Amino acid sequence: MGSLDGKVAFITGAARGQGRSHAVRLAADGADIIGVDICSDIASNGYPMASRAELDETVALVEAQGGKMIASVSDVRDFAALKAALDAGVEHFGRLDIVCANAGIAAMAFRELTDDEDLQMWTDVIDVNLVGSFHTAKAAIPHLIAGGRGGSIVFTSSTAGLKGFGGLQGGGLGYAASKHGIVGLMRTLSNALAPQSIRVNTVHPTAVNTMMAVNPAMTAFLEHYPDGGPHLQNPMPVGMLEPEDISAAIAYLVSDAARYVTGVTFPVDAGFCNKL
Ligand SMILES: NC(=O)c1ccc[n+]([C@@H]2O[C@H](COP(=O)([O-])OP(=O)(O)OC[C@H]3O[C@@H](n4cnc5c(N)ncnc54)[C@H](O)[C@@H]3O)[C@@H](O)[C@H]2O)c1
Repeated sequence: MGSLDGKVAFITGAARGQGRSHAVRLAADGADIIGVDICSDIASNGYPMASRAELDETVALVEAQGGKMIASVSDVRDFAALKAALDAGVEHFGRLDIVCANAGIAAMAFRELTDDEDLQMWTDVIDVNLVGSFHTAKAAIPHLIAGGRGGSIVFTSSTAGLKGFGGLQGGGLGYAASKHGIVGLMRTLSNALAPQSIRVNTVHPTAVNTMMAVNPAMTAFLEHYPDGGPHLQNPMPVGMLEPEDISAAIAYLVSDAARYVTGVTFPVDAGFCNKL
């Protein structure tokens, strides 16, 4: 018997990386999955988004765990489309218990930018990471409340949601601002939803081995970051975590084992935030 048997989880950014890993892990623990992903590129971002084929592969991996998954292409910036995708999934499975607001971009760059490029990176990263997280919660909360069984929302922030990391350009500043903003969203929703036993927390990963961290634009950004070598290393002897490491924390936070854990900023960071 799994810790999430009979439960339904909504996961954004489910086509690859951490979102895919969360889908597979929560399915292995017994949950059915409603997953969305943009499956098309965002022009200001320095690396590609996932593809429809990758989203379909997530479905196959969930099914290999014995789970079921409804997957659709949806942009978290488009509230109406996101709500429609979630509503259809809840209609299909009949309930909603868990929300992983995971979709995100990191529009970091190391090159000369025009003002227009810089402003566009700020806007896009805030829209996806912060506005998209609000949209995800706004679409999901009525279903959680209507279920009357409590629930769990986990927002994926970052070590950059607790520390001042990101440089001088709009993409990096927007990343840090959005990930700090998610903490304010989480803390406020945690208070507002506690009477309904809906728990709300954030996870704060250090670098994770996904496309977001492993691409030429991010490599160039990090190579030129001031004191980028020692400053950005984890105290524990690990360069990057694997997506499954973050999924393990999520699996705990959304389970009944964490039934009174709410309002928490939960680092999964090999000691990164504690060292400074
Ligand atoms: N990889 C890291 O080092 C790292 C570290 C800390 C936090 N994070 C956070 O973890 C989360 C997951 O990122 P990842 O590491 O798996 O990277 P990733 O790029 O592999 O995955 C992100 C997924 O989100 C999707 N997505 C992007 N914009 C979207 C939108 N507007 N609507 C719907 N889907 C969208 C992408 O297509 C992709 O499938 C992000 O919120 C990221 O900020 C990542």
